[in-house]
Amino acid sequence: MPQKYAKVPPQHVAVIMDGNGRWAKKRLLPRAAGHRAGFRRMLSLVDHIFACGIRYCTLFALSCENLNRPREEIEGLFEIFREYFGKHIAPLVEKGIALRVLGDAALVPPDIAASMREAEKKTSAGKNGVLTVAIGYGGRQDIVGACNRALQDGQKVTLESFAEKLSTGGMPAVDLLIRTGGEKRLSNFLLFECAYAELYFSDKMFPDFSDADFDAALEAYAGRERRYGRIE
Ligand code: IPE
Ligand code: IPE
Ligand code: MG
Repeated sequence: MPQKYAKVPPQHVAVIMDGNGRWAKKRLLPRAAGHRAGFRRMLSLVDHIFACGIRYCTLFALSCENLNRPREEIEGLFEIFREYFGKHIAPLVEKGIALRVLGDAALVPPDIAASMREAEKKTSAGKNGVLTVAIGYGGRQDIVGACNRALQDGQKVTLESFAEKLSTGGMPAVDLLIRTGGEKRLSNFLLFECAYAELYFSDKMFPDFSDADFDAALEAYAGRERRYGRIE
């Protein structure tokens, strides 16, 4: 059956939170201040996203490739992750949101990797939604990882079984992908999972991307006709 989702809200929304550095530059602030502002925005945007009834929200916080940035910037981002996983997990438990972290944990300091796993455990009973944060994540790396897991199993894969081998296994495909910051590319995010995602690009830098901007993305989505290759 062709699925015309125009009237059905997205189940899985992914957000590439881009533009923190330019937001800061425009204000003559250090890039770290942009990441701080982005972090604050993310905390309240996530509440709004789940309040909209979305079940799966996946955020791109740090790509594998971002690790090639200057050490100082990476350390600042690690500090934010430390604070997030250390201090901001209780509201997720309260709201029944399960947290999942994607990416290569070996790319972050061990104390952060441990606090990610701890946060996943603490929130694992959450039944109202899944918040996924991608840190040290790369879509191509994840696909290669899934291929290697399939080889180890020694079994041919199907589209469905391969999707299960990705780090997003168990989640539905992305319905709506939002990228802030004005760039129109995927930058190695959820390549397999976004095969039929509706793409929405905002020129707002992430710290300026308001709840109302998110609502505008949902409205744009509602006007899209998802054909999946069919003609009716
Ligand atoms: C996105 O903002 C956050 C990360 C990639 C960690 P950027 O830091 O890429 O901000 P711009 O694109 O330089 O403005
Ligand atoms: C994508 O943004 C990664 C995140 C937002 C975490 P980038 O700023 O790294 O993307 P490019 O370099 O412009 O493609
Ligand atoms: Mg960027």
